[in-house]
Amino acid sequence: MTEMTGKVALVTGGASGIGRATATRLAVLGAQVCVVDVSGDGKSVADDLGGIFIEGDVGDPDFSASAVLTCESELGGLDVAHFNAGVTCTEGADIAALTDEQYRRIMRVNVDGVVFGIRAAVPALERRGGGSIVVTASLAGLIGFPVDPIYTLTKHAVVGLVRSLPEQLTPKGIRINCVNPGIVATPLVGEEAIQMFAESGFPLLQPEDIADAVVRILGAGGTGECWPVQPGRDPEPYQFRQVPGPRTEGAEGMRPPSLDAQGPSGPGPEGP
Ligand SMILES: NC(=O)c1ccc[n+]([C@@H]2O[C@H](COP(=O)([O-])OP(=O)(O)OC[C@H]3O[C@@H](n4cnc5c(N)ncnc54)[C@H](O)[C@@H]3O)[C@@H](O)[C@H]2O)c1
Repeated sequence: MTEMTGKVALVTGGASGIGRATATRLAVLGAQVCVVDVSGDGKSVADDLGGIFIEGDVGDPDFSASAVLTCESELGGLDVAHFNAGVTCTEGADIAALTDEQYRRIMRVNVDGVVFGIRAAVPALERRGGGSIVVTASLAGLIGFPVDPIYTLTKHAVVGLVRSLPEQLTPKGIRINCVNPGIVATPLVGEEAIQMFAESGFPLLQPEDIADAVVRILGAGGTGECWPVQPGRDPEPYQFRQVPGPRTEGAEGMRPPSLDAQGPSGPGPEGP
């Protein structure tokens, strides 16, 4: 079990669902928690956990920066950042009917919120001598998901970010990984859909399953990894396939010069 005593953990979207379960699990393991959410419901979650609540929109870069600074100044530092806040864009399945407002809303939370959060957290984790970032992506970050293509876009975006950052974060002592849940019974999915899944016998995850996976990721020591979570399976890092490399004579399987040293984000193009 990952020991969190003396650690400070910031969890975005901590008022509900997965974020709430993760903040709770980290607090039970001894962490001081900083619950960040646009919903005022985060206050009672933070109060119950003896932590602090910071209310605001993670899509606002100034808010993301100030949330990290407040967490540091009130709790003494930052060791773990779980960028988890997210929304869906279910009415956006028909790409021709997607409104600018729907598109901007989901990009703002699911992509901007993660980018601004990581940008703010890295110097804070560095000041602590290192730490760990976990981003809540989704299985929809690893597969096509026609039910919600724009949601899928946002989750692929953060998967790409997480896989690309280890080269610069490892020297700072910072690990960064994704958790990629299947379908979790939370308000994001909604009562009606949860009922429909139950009636069809399709197994759903509970938010606590994702909290377990986050704790496992924190203790595992890897970086640049994506961890799918599915009912009844032990979470483990997803094994990405190599992409095809060049096949021209004398350059079979060659990587671009700047990528020559295989980084921690995984294998490069496959050979001839
Ligand atoms: N529920 C699932 O099936 C599922 C599956 C895979 C991934 N996820 C991802 O898990 C994460 C958490 O989702 P959940 O299922 O717990 O949903 P949820 O709706 O229960 O919780 C999401 C939380 O994020 C907060 N939030 C939304 N916009 C925000 C903003 N702009 N700034 C700050 N906070 C904001 C909400 O207020 C809410 O408390 C999301 O990123 C979601 O995409 C969920």
